[in-house]
This record gives sequence, C-alpha cells and structure tokens, in this order.
Amino acid sequence: MNIIEIIEKKKNMLELSAEEIEYFIKNYTTDEIPDYQISALLMAIRLNGMTDNETFYLTKSMIESGDVIDLSSIEGFKVDKHSTGGVGDKVTLIVTPIIASLGIPVAKFSGKGLGITGGTIDKLESVKGLKTELSSELFINNVNKHKIAVAGQTANLVPADKKLYALRDVTGTVDSIPLIAASIMSKKIASGSDGIVLDVKCGSGAFMKTYEEAKVLADTMSSIGEKLGRKVIAHISDMDNPLGLMVGNKMEVVEAMELLSGNMNNTHEDLYEECVIIASLMYEIATGKSNEESVTAVKEVIENGKALEKFKELITIQGGDVTDLHLNETQYIVEVKAIGSGTVEKVNALSIGEVSLALGAGRLTKESALDYDAGVALVGKKGMQIKQGDVVARLYSNKGITQDIIKKAEQAFVLK
Ligand code: URA
Repeated sequence: MNIIEIIEKKKNMLELSAEEIEYFIKNYTTDEIPDYQISALLMAIRLNGMTDNETFYLTKSMIESGDVIDLSSIEGFKVDKHSTGGVGDKVTLIVTPIIASLGIPVAKFSGKGLGITGGTIDKLESVKGLKTELSSELFINNVNKHKIAVAGQTANLVPADKKLYALRDVTGTVDSIPLIAASIMSKKIASGSDGIVLDVKCGSGAFMKTYEEAKVLADTMSSIGEKLGRKVIAHISDMDNPLGLMVGNKMEVVEAMELLSGNMNNTHEDLYEECVIIASLMYEIATGKSNEESVTAVKEVIENGKALEKFKELITIQGGDVTDLHLNETQYIVEVKAIGSGTVEKVNALSIGEVSLALGAGRLTKESALDYDAGVALVGKKGMQIKQGDVVARLYSNKGITQDIIKKAEQAFVLK
C-alpha cells in the first residue's frame, strides 16, 4: 500500500478501506507523508465525498492518532456539547453552568476561534486571570467537586486533526461534510464524555449554508457517535443572524452573565431560547427525563439564580476575577446608523463576523493576537422596526475603525 495508490483510488471515486485510511492518518501524523500528497487526497475527498464507512474509519483512525481522555474517575453520566460555530455563539458559556447546577458533570474541552467563528477558550481567557490550561488532575478534581471544568484541548488530543485542519484551512478543503464530521467527532469522542449534544448551525454565518447540508452533517455525526457507543442528539439552528447582541470575546462573557442574571435588557430572546433548547437536550440525554421536564428544570435554575452562581464558581475555580465581568471602554467606539427605514429582515451574520474580525476580536491566522475588548454590540435585530439614522450597532476597537468597516456594518442590516 502507498499514498499514491490511495490518492488515485479516491480520485477515481473508489471506496478506501479501513486499512488504507489508517495508513494515511498514521503516516501523516508522524510526518512520513508530506503535506502536498495529503493536500491532493483532501481535495479528492472534498470533490468526491466519502461513504459512511469511510467517514467512520477516518474518525476512528483520527481518534487513535493521540490520547483518549479517561473520565472514568468522574461519577455519573458526563455530558458534552458541540457547536459547529457561529457569530455571537456564546451558548457553551451559558449551558455548561446550567447543567452543572443541575448536578450533571460537565467535563468540557473547547477550542480557540479561527476566522469569523469565535472559540469558547478565547472568550473565557478574556476574563482577567482565568486559565483554561488545566492539569488533568485539576480538571478531574474540579468536575468531581464543582461539576464543571472547561479546558483547552490538550496537545495530544487528536494530533491528526491539528495537522489536517491546518492543511484544510489553506487548501480550500474545510467545507467537506465527511472531513468536518470526522474532525468534530474524533475530538468529541477522544474527550471522553458519555453523551454529546450537537448544535449544527446553518446559514450565512455557518459552514453549512442550507438546512439540507446541515441535516446531512448532523446525521453523519450522530451515526459516528452512536457506532462508537455514545448517546448523541443533534439540533439544527439558524446562523443567518448573529446569536444574541454581543459579538466579541469579553463582550460575550458579559452577555452570558447578564442572561443568567435574568437581565434581558442586555441580551436577546433568540439566545435565551437557543440556550434552553441545548441545555434541555443535555439534561435529557444525561437523565432520560422527558423534554418537557428537562425544559422546566433548565428554566428553574436560570430563574432561581443557581446557574448564575455556578457560572461565577466556574470563573473563580479557574482563577478568573468575577469583578472583571464588565465591558471595558475601547479606544475607538463608533455608532453604526441605519441607512434606510423599515423592518430588519436579517442581520447578516457573515458580515458582522467579518466586522468583528477586522475590529480585532478574531484571528486571521492561528498566531494572530486578539483584542479581548473589541467587538460589535448589536442594537438592531431581525424583526425590529427602524428609521434611517437610528443606531443599529456599536463598534468597539483599540486599533482604529475604518470607513470600510463601518460601511460593511451598515450593510449587514437588510431591510424590507
Ligand atoms: N470545527 C471543527 O472542529 N472541525 C471542522 O472541520 C469544522 C469545524
């Protein structure tokens, strides 16, 4: 067996065997096969797709490329969630304390953001003092004692994905359903939880632009998880519009706290509803209770303040300063005004994501430094009536805000 034969086979739309998939993953992870050959193979996969069997064996080989986290010393059914990423998606920050406050252990490994999709780790690290690099001992202790820990993925968790993702990012091969499914599910399975709720986004601000594509991705991921002995529930949600009001690292942590405080003036119903859905699915998968009972339990811990207390506990046990949970003034603040009058048909999530990236809230490359205080605070949301000249958003940045950025923000508000 050699890599040229494997590339030829995929080019000719033939199914790769488990052994062939294992061969290229193993030898690419150990640098035996060069980037240029894997680039060709990735493009053949991107163009010709993979069968369910191929995607399953790809995921399995990727898991086997590194460590698998052993959570067996944590009592109870461990539940995880994953979002395929979107603009203003701070759901993890809100649902993990909700679930932990209901007594369900949450052992969560999250990633950093790249491009317009923010990462939970960046958001948490925007809080003064907060650490997401936890030793495995501290991680397990925190989950046992406080029912919650959120950490960055360790260096040897699915090393194959680290190499493949970096290569996909520069070879136009990110948007492939089998590659996305294997990338996400390998990390979720290797992270050790018993149950996984998948929040698959579709729309302009997501990898999957249509509901149909999102459904195929959701079904592919669920089937891989189930074959590997995990309980999986997938939910498909809209990412045509940014979620909530804030897009930017620290701004999103503050919005999460406001929502858990019951202060709906600084957040939006769409975020509340999405969090109730995801948290209730996590509770349902962990307890086997009905969805109705799960929704009631979730709403109760938001209303009685237990989830807020757990949120503050999470910040504190990971070294963060809860008195730092407020918005900082940035050097430049610009009000974005409506360029017409009417009803907001949509706020283009992709454009708002690009604006927040340009303001300093996101990374263009893995090495880019973030401005934790930068971002976009939306005032206008879908369905709102606005008049020309009304403030529809505020832009925050420490590196200057160009006319092009302001124009892009103005045009993100599509009126009817
Ligand atoms: N998120 C991942 O972890 N991998 C992908 O391929 C896409 C989104």
